[in-house]
Amino acid sequence: MEEKIHTKIVRMDSENIDPEIIKEAAIIINKGGIVVFPTETVYGIGADALNDEAVDKIFKAKGRPQDNPLIVHIADVSELDALVKEVPESADKLADKYWPGPLTMILYKKDILSDKITAGLDTAAIRLPKNQIALALIRESKKPIAAPSANTSGKPSPTEASHVIEDLMGKVDMIIDGGSTNIGIESTVIDMTGDMPTILRPGGITKEDVEEVLGRCEYDPAIIKSSEKIVPKSPGQKYRHYSPKARVVLYKGKAEDIAQRIAKDYEKLQSEGLRVGIMSTVQTEKYYEGKTTICCGDRTKPLTISSNLFKDLRNFDRMGMDVILSEAVDEQGLGKAIMNRLGKASSETIIV
Ligand code: TXA
Ligand code: MG
Repeated sequence: MEEKIHTKIVRMDSENIDPEIIKEAAIIINKGGIVVFPTETVYGIGADALNDEAVDKIFKAKGRPQDNPLIVHIADVSELDALVKEVPESADKLADKYWPGPLTMILYKKDILSDKITAGLDTAAIRLPKNQIALALIRESKKPIAAPSANTSGKPSPTEASHVIEDLMGKVDMIIDGGSTNIGIESTVIDMTGDMPTILRPGGITKEDVEEVLGRCEYDPAIIKSSEKIVPKSPGQKYRHYSPKARVVLYKGKAEDIAQRIAKDYEKLQSEGLRVGIMSTVQTEKYYEGKTTICCGDRTKPLTISSNLFKDLRNFDRMGMDVILSEAVDEQGLGKAIMNRLGKASSETIIV
């Protein structure tokens, strides 16, 4: 059996940094330990990116496949040069506009980053997060910090400390509880190694945001069309992800049509003895009177939906649901990232 370690949980306000706790956390990082910290997207499980043994502990704690590379987090753009071979002008421009923030850039790596971090690729994923706790921890430890999302591999990413505790208690040295993360889904991963900036994982910084700065941007074909023939450039995208225990069914179409169909299917599934939950939106709640629903957010404000999505999926699990019926949302802007995660969480799509 895996040996349990003592996990210290500390609470900190992202806007009111406690330097003593940050010092303690940085000592853990520098000794090769593991610290979970909040970012503006989701919680990260962090270790010294230059210490292979420490990085290995991340893979073990998450149960993460070794061929899925990690994101390296920095606290200042000036730290980029030590990690990557070259920073193209386009990457510089994106960094200028969107760092700190929910953007991860793929660049050719220097040897200082080991195969452990990059899963043997010649590129590395680098991000400069916005959350003040994350930044303080990176600065204080004086190390780049490798940090994937702090969930057990395959489960929805954690957006509050209770999710981390569910997955990683006894497997990490410290959890810094900084409250709920605001964006709620992971950063945009963009490949900057070729001529065309290519989004490998949609997130908080949208295609339109990138186009505004660079004039062009594409999605990796693998995230537009899921086909077994297209191998995603981002290794993480090939795994089933974000899956609650319950079966998720995704409904696409006009909001009212979807809602009416979901209400009908709910009755049917319930009559078969299944525990059914509906992931609704402010606009459609009225169709579900008397049914078990969680309202994910407002269709006109996608950030309300992204920030609740993973929490709601986990909440349905806590309620012991067998099936979750979820409405699709408009794929514009942040909606693209929301639909990418819902697509991966679901095992079935119904077009209404
Ligand atoms: O918002 C986020 O990005 C969070 C917070 C903690 O920063 N982190 C996160 O990490 O979501 P993770 O490990 O769960 O997702 C990293 C993604 C994976 O899909 C991985 O395959 C991809 O980035 N990735 C990492 N290095 C890559 C590389 N060199 N080339 C292509 N994809 C890469
Ligand atoms: Mg992840």
